[in-house]
Amino acid sequence: MMPTILAIESSCDDTSAAVIKDGKICANIVATQAVHEKYGGVVPELASRAHEQNIIPVVSQALLTANITKSDLNAVAFTRGPGLLGALLVGCSFAKSLALGLHIPLIEVNHMQAHILAHFIDDPKPTFPFLCLTVSGGHTQIVLVKDYLQMEILGQTSDDAVGEAFDKSAKLLGLPYPGGPMLDKLAQTGNPDKYSFPIVNMPGYDFSFSGIKTAILNFIKNNTTQNPDFISQNLPDICASIQQALILTLMKKLVLAAQETNIKEIAIAGGVSANSGLRRTIQEYAKIYSWNTYIPAFEYCTDNAAMVAINAHYKFLAGEFSNQYASPDPRLKMSF
Ligand code: KG4
Ligand code: ZN
Repeated sequence: MMPTILAIESSCDDTSAAVIKDGKICANIVATQAVHEKYGGVVPELASRAHEQNIIPVVSQALLTANITKSDLNAVAFTRGPGLLGALLVGCSFAKSLALGLHIPLIEVNHMQAHILAHFIDDPKPTFPFLCLTVSGGHTQIVLVKDYLQMEILGQTSDDAVGEAFDKSAKLLGLPYPGGPMLDKLAQTGNPDKYSFPIVNMPGYDFSFSGIKTAILNFIKNNTTQNPDFISQNLPDICASIQQALILTLMKKLVLAAQETNIKEIAIAGGVSANSGLRRTIQEYAKIYSWNTYIPAFEYCTDNAAMVAINAHYKFLAGEFSNQYASPDPRLKMSF
């Protein structure tokens, strides 16, 4: 049976609902929460409240766009974690109630696995086994993807995620939230070789991004004592140089993992895979190392329910369902 599934994503600051029918996405509605802008970062309490307000309109819109009604659904899916507890609770409670009310199965999805499975929404699709560099605001991982639901984390960050490093760097430069996309935009007209920022080499396939903040703070202090306008005068070059250091840190470990596993199918996923520098660099490396690379469409890079829906589709086919005791797990690990 090819199921019709409603999927809900509420792990951070996007309330999203998607419908998947026979493995094809027919709706993907995302309500991004603007309320956090003036605080310079996501405020968990406000995120939960905004999810509570958005969830019914977003779900209604998804059903309308897919041209179906609740009675057409074969299952309801939700993001169990990782993410913010209060935010996850909204999606979990809603999905559970709807599934119970409709007497249909409930499916829980791991947010990081969903980012990776976003590659199976459109063509071209990677072939197993492949490596996925999963880079978001909360995670930085190199994942060995053996099958749809069989994944192994080879390496990860020991402190900050790379998206966090983008956002914190942008904040130190005085850029508004969310800083990552803004830093990317400014970097496009800058010279990445103008300034040098540290490329930290951790053991194995692990990463560390916490040092970049101190490096930027020192850089700002050293350069603004003589010229208080140094930052504003050199902003594109500074952004391009920071972005390059972050990208090269990622690429170093990705190359190592590809060489040691002898895998040439390479994907990127998560919010930071929207970064234009990373997208370009991975294509350049593909030529050098003869990789087949997979880069998600922009709409499937940052948080969305379509990726939860495709993940739920494969879980449905595998018969992996949850029950009425399902609850969020803010620190949910990848299942193997
Ligand atoms: O996957 P995502 O939407 O949410 C999490 O699961 O964390 O990722 C959000 C992260 C943020 O840190 C954001 O700044 C970063 O992805 N991001 C970018 C870009 N677009 C989003 N970072 C760099 N360049 C971009 N173009
Ligand atoms: Zn995410």
